[in-house]
Amino acid sequence: MSYNDTFIKACKKQEVDTLPVWYMRQAGRYDPAYRKIKEKYSLLEICQQPELAAEVTLLPVHKVGVDAAILYSDIMNPVASIGIDFDIVKNIGPVIHNPIKSSADVERLRPIQVEKDLSHIIKTIEILVGELQVPLITFAGAPFTIASYLIEGKPSKSYIRTKELMYNEPAVWFKLMDKLGDMVITYLKAHIAAGAKAVQLFDSWVGALSPKDFQYYVLPTITRIFAELKHLEQPKVYFPGVSSGELLPHLQQVAADVIGLDWRVSIAEGRQRLGSRFAVQGNMDPYILTAPMSVIKEQAKVIIDQGIKEPGYIFNFGHGLFPEASIDKLHELTEFVHSYSTAAIAASKQGSGV
Ligand code: CP3
Repeated sequence: MSYNDTFIKACKKQEVDTLPVWYMRQAGRYDPAYRKIKEKYSLLEICQQPELAAEVTLLPVHKVGVDAAILYSDIMNPVASIGIDFDIVKNIGPVIHNPIKSSADVERLRPIQVEKDLSHIIKTIEILVGELQVPLITFAGAPFTIASYLIEGKPSKSYIRTKELMYNEPAVWFKLMDKLGDMVITYLKAHIAAGAKAVQLFDSWVGALSPKDFQYYVLPTITRIFAELKHLEQPKVYFPGVSSGELLPHLQQVAADVIGLDWRVSIAEGRQRLGSRFAVQGNMDPYILTAPMSVIKEQAKVIIDQGIKEPGYIFNFGHGLFPEASIDKLHELTEFVHSYSTAAIAASKQGSGV
């Protein structure tokens, strides 16, 4: 099998014959083989074992037929290295044992030491890059999203503590953004040095902010992160998370190649808000997988038809897959996106006389 680089081509807004597909949280609980591994090991224990973490990363590539692998890890993994104790608790998510409350807590955070603390992640990347016939995406959590866990201590709906710190102690907030920004830059550079073919910054919860607050409190750090990575040829993806439609017009200065969209804004509308520099990724509602295949395909068609209007589109969900998702439907959806987009792209080339 030859190397499949349609994902990289789409990130760079080059023409493709078939749309690339991958799914957020594609290595996960919807897969019985993953659940079996999870009977024995926790997420963090899997990450500590590079061979096993690589095996888990490969599961959806083999079973679902996606065009990119995403490293099996979690956005919380690097924060242990800066001095945060956490667990990933079943059906809850990250829980922090020493949440950030004060300026002193932020001062105490250390610089990340990838070689000392995260060599298992680097090893997993190296194993995968040697084995894969599709690009490996690695990732980090963005400063706001990580900060929301560090401050709240657990997943939150309101982000009340996070906003309280942000509004009341801006100097502490910006110090925290700086430190988390440094962490992300060092971590993602190490991934790329180890062979990652693309990197994604997950800012899953930043849509909780108004556009104005996003611009003031968060955007400078996002801009700095991508400016630091700009000279690297590997594509960079920024995912501003759920409910981020109103933030899209404000991303102009971010030197990412691709922006991930959630399902509340169509691909066409998202492109309009972003301007023509970015490729886009997304944006099906993952819970569409509860529908019959005919409904899933009808919705996929609408997204694909908009996506192929310009080069630079990657099929994905607008957020992560859920544990009850059907692996058979996911496989069928992948095949459908491939076959339908191949025919539609060929027809549009013919129509335009190319
Ligand atoms: O996408 C992939 O297949 C790669 C693996 C991956 C995981 N987490 C593994 C994981 C990725 C890309 C992440 C990123 C991540 N982690 C994000 C950003 C993406 C998003 O969903 O918005 C966030 C916010 C987290 C924090 C986190 N970790 C949450 C909210 C949860 C879910 C808690 C739950 O039980 O539902 C986790 C745990 C987690 N990370 C799981 C997986 C497969 C599920 C629990 C498990 O299998 O142990």
